[in-house]
This record gives sequence, C-alpha cells and structure tokens, in this order.
Amino acid sequence: MTSQSISLDGRGEPGQDAALRLEDVRVWRWHVASGTRKPIIDGITWTVGAGERWALLGPNGAGKTTLLTIAGAVDFPSTGTVEILGETMGRTDLARLRESIGFVDTRVGGRFAPLLTVREVVRTGATATIGYFEERLSGLDLDRADELVGAFGLGAIGERRFGDCSEGERKRALIARALLAQPRLLLLDEPGGGLDLPGRETLLSSLDRVAGLQPSLAMVITTHHLEELPASTSHALLLRDGGAVAMGPVEETLTEGPLSDCFGMALAVTRVGGRFSASAA
Ligand SMILES: Nc1ncnc2c1ncn2[C@@H]1O[C@H](COP(=O)(O)OP(=O)(O)O)[C@@H](O)[C@H]1O
Ligand SMILES: [Mg+2]
Repeated sequence: MTSQSISLDGRGEPGQDAALRLEDVRVWRWHVASGTRKPIIDGITWTVGAGERWALLGPNGAGKTTLLTIAGAVDFPSTGTVEILGETMGRTDLARLRESIGFVDTRVGGRFAPLLTVREVVRTGATATIGYFEERLSGLDLDRADELVGAFGLGAIGERRFGDCSEGERKRALIARALLAQPRLLLLDEPGGGLDLPGRETLLSSLDRVAGLQPSLAMVITTHHLEELPASTSHALLLRDGGAVAMGPVEETLTEGPLSDCFGMALAVTRVGGRFSASAA
C-alpha cells in the first residue's frame, strides 16, 4: 500500500508544512512469558499536514493509542524517525515541543482536584498545570478561557464542580483546556468513547467549530467507531495489527473495501452530511 499521505489542498509535496512526519516507525514490546518480542506498530510512514483533521481508526488493540503517544512526543518508538512540528524526536527539547501539542486521553481527567470548577479546569491549560493558580493568569488567559468554555457548550455549567460533571462534559472541558495552550497539534484518544448520544453529538459539533475557527490546527482523533468522527474529518489512517491498511483523504479511505480489511469483516458504509456510519454488510 502507499506509505505517503495524499495532500488535499495542493500545497505541493506531502510533508511540507507537516505537523507530523513519521518514517518507518516501529514499536516492539517484550512478551515476558514467551521471551519473544511482538510488533505493536509495524513500520508506519505517515505525514499529517498543518490544518488536516485525521481519524486514526482500527479495532481494539490495533495500536492506535501507542501511535498517538508517539505522535504526541509522550513515548519514543523502538526504531524509525519522528518529526513533530518540524522538530525531530531525539534531537530536540521534548518539554518545549510538548507545549505546542494538545494531548487528551481518558486518564487526564482523574488528576484534577474534584472541587475545581469546569471553568477553573479549562483555565489550567494556560499554566499547563493540574493545579489551579489564578495569580499566574493574565486577563487575556481569562478571556480566552471564557471563549473556549462557550465554544464547547460549557457556559451554563462553568461554575459546576468538575467532579460532578458527566463524562461528556468533562471531556469537552479537557479539550477546551488543551486548546487554551494554543497548540498547533491536537491529539485526542477516543474522545467519543463512553458518551451518550447527546454527549457525543455536542462534542462533535464543538470539534467542528474549533476546526472552522483554527484552520491551521492539525488534529488526530482515534476511535473504533466511524460514528464518533466529526464531519470536519479530512483524512484517515486505518490500522490493523500495528500496520497501515490505508491512509489518505476520507473519500478514499473511509470506504467499504479498506474499512472491511481494517476491521476484518464485510462492512457497509454510509455518509450523510459529512458524517460516516458503518454496519455489517
Ligand atoms: N506497555 C505494553 N506492553 C505490552 N503490550 C502492550 C503495551 N502497550 C500496549 N500493548 C499492546 O499493544 C497492542 C496495541 O495497544 P494499543 O495501542 O493500546 O491499541 P488500541 O489503542 O488500538 O486499542 C495491544 O495488543 C496491547 O495489548
Ligand atoms: Mg486505545
């Protein structure tokens, strides 16, 4: 299969203005019982351009989270080259690089003091801290936090304790928090997972709004459900057993052939208003 993404916007060579550039990335994990090593990510070459909105799709255990943590400069690969926002991992100050990356996974939420309000949790994005330090916030930080609270539909519950919020409200607050730091790359691990229908739909429309407001922001969202992708999704990388089954614009990749290969069953795919859904064929 092709190992390069296809640029949608005609900016020229794929990789120009790249937010992410992975070259033959591999990850092995040792299986202690058998004393053998198992490939988790199996030779991924992938380019995400500025402003592209990628879906990272695949069944459970395909390697989505592992690949996302590499894209977020959280983990190093076993071999291969990883370039993030023009900086090569292993040759750059990772702490500084991470300031330009918004990474939201399911575990982040548990770290905040339950008594913090939704608005305070969002504001901690300006200080990149888990604790709330109001004295370190500028007037501009406060204004931008309010703007994001509004954009994510959290205005009415801004003063509610974070610990009392629903899963969907907490996820929206955490994404708003990540955006307050003005990242150039936003990585979301299963943002729609575990949400009820209104929770999911509110989240997806917030992500579409952000996509419209910040055209140069590159975004990668992992999921195993097509229904959890925002309509603004432009590209997809389909993973199976750590390898790429397909990658490129959604018109080519979120289709029956590649998706059936990816999930290992014959699927029928529909697209309505930019949103995808799949069921057994
Ligand atoms: N630290 C680890 N040690 C051993 N195996 C791991 C480790 N992390 C992930 N794996 C395995 O790697 C595979 C991919 O995991 P993951 O990236 O979490 O997949 P996904 O997010 O697509 O469900 C799974 O089989 C998982 O059990
Ligand atoms: Mg995962």
